[in-house]
Amino acid sequence: MIKRGLFILFEGVDRVGKSTQVQALTNHISNVQKLQTKSLRFPDRTTPIGQIINQYLQNATNMDDRALHLLFSSNRWEARDSILELLNNGTNIVVDRYSYSGVAYSAAKGIDFDWCYACEKGLPKPDLIFYLTMSSEDATKRGEYGGERYEKLDFQKKIKQIYEEKLVDQPNSKQTTWKIINANRPIDEISNEISSIFDSEFKNIQSSPIGKLE
Ligand code: TYD
Ligand code: MG
Repeated sequence: MIKRGLFILFEGVDRVGKSTQVQALTNHISNVQKLQTKSLRFPDRTTPIGQIINQYLQNATNMDDRALHLLFSSNRWEARDSILELLNNGTNIVVDRYSYSGVAYSAAKGIDFDWCYACEKGLPKPDLIFYLTMSSEDATKRGEYGGERYEKLDFQKKIKQIYEEKLVDQPNSKQTTWKIINANRPIDEISNEISSIFDSEFKNIQSSPIGKLE
């Protein structure tokens, strides 16, 4: 019988190094563990919905905050079937942002937290979440933020607060393990820590069913 793949998520504010670590873990799973693996990112800017989101993020269009929130969520729902198919066929998925980004960024704008979370319920649940964190000031020092809409210090601090007070290890994310990773260290030190967590936990997780966000 094929063992199912794991659904592994990286979360955190802009500039903490998620994309680098997604790549490193994907390489580790395929080259060291010799398991099938694929990386994904949200928003997926390649779909028609993703293109609308992309225009908004690049400040090319304006949109109602809730309408935008629902587009980010739709962009995950449209990937649901392919995520489940990959996992059921034994492919591990390493994803850069998911529902928790959706909730943290929208709630940081002042939209009701529960309203933000509601449309995520039922999506495939990540088995393991690596939350990368460092001070917002240090993240800013990593170089100028790009020109994208959310890359401003005050807003980034609000998002971090929502992650840390309302999402990481909170009851609505029960049964999913959050691993809090200090992102203010050399890249290799971080990726070694993450790889060894994967190595020690993946066999256990494989034998449990794929969950749903609730
Ligand atoms: P980001 O991961 O920063 O993409 P890139 O690496 O290409 O810059 O994602 C773009 C922005 O979208 C980021 O600031 C977070 C935000 N975002 C939301 O507001 N809601 C969501 O549901 C997701 C997935 C991202
Ligand atoms: Mg970004």
